[in-house]
Amino acid sequence: MRLVMTLCNRLTRTAMLWLAVALLLMPGVARADDKRFRLSAPEALAQSGLLQHLLPRFALKTGVRVEVVEEGAEAEITLAPQDGRAVFEGVGAVWRMGVVGAHPGAARFADWLTSEIGQRTVTSYEVAGVAPFRLPQVEDEAEAVAVFEGDAALGKQVSLRQCGRCHVVAPENRMGAIGSTPSFAVLRTFADWDARFQSFFALKPHPAFTQVAGVTQPFAIHLPSPIAPIEVTLEELEAIIAYVAGLAPADLGAPIQVQ
Ligand code: HEC
Repeated sequence: MRLVMTLCNRLTRTAMLWLAVALLLMPGVARADDKRFRLSAPEALAQSGLLQHLLPRFALKTGVRVEVVEEGAEAEITLAPQDGRAVFEGVGAVWRMGVVGAHPGAARFADWLTSEIGQRTVTSYEVAGVAPFRLPQVEDEAEAVAVFEGDAALGKQVSLRQCGRCHVVAPENRMGAIGSTPSFAVLRTFADWDARFQSFFALKPHPAFTQVAGVTQPFAIHLPSPIAPIEVTLEELEAIIAYVAGLAPADLGAPIQVQ
């Protein structure tokens, strides 16, 4: 009798564990948008098996599901040297991670991939006893310690005035911004936040209403800015970047610890 009960107990536990895993992996369960995103990757990487090794482990840790697609993704792993930060090397190339929109799940993946645990997950992937991927050489070191020379105090002022209509820039405008627009603290969590700020005027939705002196073309006559335009100089943009560099990245939730 006791044996039967122990057995039942075991079975139920195993069943529950499987159910939990199945729920986690089942499409449609984690409906909340920030719990799923799409990732695009070149064929060579998609076929290397690395993503099949990484993605379930990332999903188990964070509950964020990643669908690999060919295009229209919120994040991409690419070979293009200007897009994103080097995350690993292997199968003859340096691979970079770029986040396309301001998606919290994608940002989380970028963070995880560059964290110690993410890097260990990359290097622990083996095919027939050989690890095809390794960490990138330190070419990005200079970028990591980049100094932002603008005037951060000026940057805060300009951000509050020009960007604070939509973005929460600082506690001062916490109530005056648009809730659905990512705050500067959230944008600061992206590994490539500085590249995004440097080119923000070219990234949607800004081109329709932004003028950077000496950089952008005037608005087309038949397409005037739909709202009071943002006008910044390159010096002010540099100041904004220096201000954002000093912001604490938003805490998007600690990774779940799996023993
Ligand atoms: C009229 C509203 C509005 C104003 C003003 C505005 N933004 Fe944005 N910004 C947005 C929205 C909305 C997004 C999110 C776009 C998305 O998720 O695709 C965004 C996203 C961004 C991003 C991330 C872009 C990306 O694709 O990664 C940066 C960087 C940014 N804004 C910087 C700025 C700066 C700097 C200013 C001020 C000089 C500013 N924004 C002013 C609405 C605005």
